[in-house]
Amino acid sequence: MAEVVNFDGAIDKGLEGVVACTTAVSSILGNTLSYRGYTIEDLASHSTFEEVTYLLWNNRLPNKSELEKFSTELNQNMKLAPDFVSVLKTIPTKNVHPMAWLRTAVSLMSHWDTDAGDNSIEANRRKALRLTAQMSSLVTAFEAIRNGREVLAPKNGKSMAWNFMYMLKGGEPDADLVKLFDTCLILHADHELNCSAFATRVTTSSLSDLHSAIVSAIGALKGPLHGGANEQVMVMLAKIGTIENAQQFVKDALEAKEKVMGIGHRVYKNGDPRAAILRKFSEQLTKKIGKPELYQMSVLIDDTMQKEKGLMPNVDFYSATVYHAMGIPTDIFTPIFAASRVSGWIAHAMEQYEKNRIYRPRSKWVGKDGLKWSPAEAR
Ligand code: COA
Repeated sequence: MAEVVNFDGAIDKGLEGVVACTTAVSSILGNTLSYRGYTIEDLASHSTFEEVTYLLWNNRLPNKSELEKFSTELNQNMKLAPDFVSVLKTIPTKNVHPMAWLRTAVSLMSHWDTDAGDNSIEANRRKALRLTAQMSSLVTAFEAIRNGREVLAPKNGKSMAWNFMYMLKGGEPDADLVKLFDTCLILHADHELNCSAFATRVTTSSLSDLHSAIVSAIGALKGPLHGGANEQVMVMLAKIGTIENAQQFVKDALEAKEKVMGIGHRVYKNGDPRAAILRKFSEQLTKKIGKPELYQMSVLIDDTMQKEKGLMPNVDFYSATVYHAMGIPTDIFTPIFAASRVSGWIAHAMEQYEKNRIYRPRSKWVGKDGLKWSPAEAR
């Protein structure tokens, strides 16, 4: 019997307003973002990236000994296997975007993982630890390899944020910067059904493996309309150059129907709560490094976009100047996003495996019908 499908309400524009699944990982209710019921403001003020990762994966905060054990496990899983590092050194880094390199590196990583093809809960837990712990190590390894420096191993007993900053540059990182960086990792850890979380869930829904799901997610995050926007904000600020040029730049971009990076959001219409926190960090840090004009320029762009278009900054807008002021290379901004968001992607993958049904939507046919093949010479 012919299938009866009503295509009348077909949605062609980014699935806006479509509820594609249920989740208990994170929620956006009005302007409030929560992970497992805890607001982002609460977690940013009091928690750590390790604790937030535990929360995302276990649906509750850990007690003291659970947190210590989990933090140690993450720490011990950060080290990249020496033969894996040798292969990483053979992947081209010149003219290669770090997100493209990271996508390849995570895919390669599965070849050293004896659990790679095992989708049991236990194996996925072990892989989750390795993927989350090693994403930071991979990003910092990329930076070391392309600069011909030694790939540093993480130090025992230190946090993921501390080790990231240590492995990126070498030397003891500044304690205040480590704290701020840890908060940035918390702020980026999850965000409901964003593009890369959806990509994770779609790949997982075919019962593919965790590495494949994370590779899909990295590919989705890389784009400038998603995580790639933080890098583009810095590129834009460099292009604008001076505070005097900022307003005109925005007006020209709007006139030309070009996107101003780091502004606007599909879900938040009255502001992204993460941007409010990062804005304060941006003010503080740009002043500290003697470049307050970067913050002032950002505020001017922010104000002009609100006035001209009613659009507000998203997480990527102020994080750009925060990372810049921390001395992080601009093209590493999005990989840092991945190093944090991997914790959320994994929480989504685990939830998807738990109550899986393959994602298989329909599309409404708008092409030609009834065509007949003819030989090439007759066309
Ligand atoms: N700069 C200029 N105009 C923007 C804009 C921006 N950053 N973001 C949205 N708009 C405008 C669109 O041009 C459109 O205007 P119109 O109705 O006059 O045509 C309207 O606002 C709706 O935008 P749309 O692109 O349909 O929204 P969306 O929900 O599909 O996309 C984003 C959301 C985030 C992808 C979009 O705001 C964007 O591209 N922002 C810049 C990239 C970015 O910062 N991404 C990170 C997201 S966390």
